[in-house]
Amino acid sequence: MAAADAPQPGGPALAVFAAPAELGLIVVAAGRGERLGQDKAWVPLGDRPLVAHSLAALARPPVERVVLVVAAGRLAEGRALAAQVAVPTIAVVGGARRQDSVRHGLDALGPCAWVAVHDAARPFADRALLLRTLEAAQATGAAVAAVPVRDTIKRVRAGRVVETLARAELWAVQTPQVFRGDLLARAHRAGDAEVTDDAALVERLGVPVAVAAGAYVNIKVTTPDDLVLARLLWQQRAGAAAGD
Ligand code: CTP
Ligand code: MG
Repeated sequence: MAAADAPQPGGPALAVFAAPAELGLIVVAAGRGERLGQDKAWVPLGDRPLVAHSLAALARPPVERVVLVVAAGRLAEGRALAAQVAVPTIAVVGGARRQDSVRHGLDALGPCAWVAVHDAARPFADRALLLRTLEAAQATGAAVAAVPVRDTIKRVRAGRVVETLARAELWAVQTPQVFRGDLLARAHRAGDAEVTDDAALVERLGVPVAVAAGAYVNIKVTTPDDLVLARLLWQQRAGAAAGD
C-alpha cells in the first residue's frame, strides 16, 4: 500500500502513518554512494535493485509498517517499490546525512512501540536477524546486530601504527538496529553530533545498547569490491535455490 501521494518537493515527508503500531521499520536508501561511485540503493543485484532485496528481507510481519527513505530524485522509484511491499510502506525523501534520513523516516513512521532501522545497502539481512535484534532490545530498549572483528585492528596516524586495540572487545556493528520508539526519537532530538549509526545517539543518552548476534554475510555494500562480493553471494544463493 503506497500512502504517500502528497507532493514532496524534495523536503521531508508530508505523508505519515498515524495509528499506533507495535513494530515499524525504517529502511534508509538516500545516500550518495560516493565510495561505490554509483547510486548504490538502485544498483542491480540479480533481478532487482539492492534496496528491493533489503526490503524483501525485512519488510514482513511482525513488522507492521515501513518507511523507505530515498534520495530526492528517486521518489517515483521509491513509491513504485513501496507499492510492492508485503506490509504498508510509504516512501519519503531523506536528508544530507544518514541521521537526517533516519529522522525523516521517524517523522513519517508515526507512533511505534519499537522501531527497527536498516541500511538499504545490506541486502543479505534476514527476518531471523531482525527478530534476534528485537529480542535483545527488550532488556534496555536498544540493540544492534554485530559480529566480533576478525582482523587485528590498529590505530594509525600519518601512516604509522600508534596503537594495537584489544581484539576481544571489538565488534563490527551492523544493521538492523532496534530501539524503543520513544527512545530513538529522543536520541535524534537530543543533539546534532555527527554519527554513523543510530545506536551512537542512544549511547550518548547513557542508555545501554545490547548486542545481538549479527552475521558475517550481512555485508554493507560500500565499495566496488563489496558489490562484486554481493553479486557472487547472490548468484550462489540463487543457484542454491534453483537446486544447482
Ligand atoms: N544513507 C541515507 N541518507 C544519507 C546517507 C546515507 O539514507 N544522507 C543510507 C545509505 O543509502 C545506506 C546507509 O545509509 O543505505 C548506510 O550509509 P553508507 O553505507 O555510508 O551509504 P552512502 O552514504 O550512500 O555511501 P557513501 O558514504 O560512500 O557516500
Ligand atoms: Mg555514507
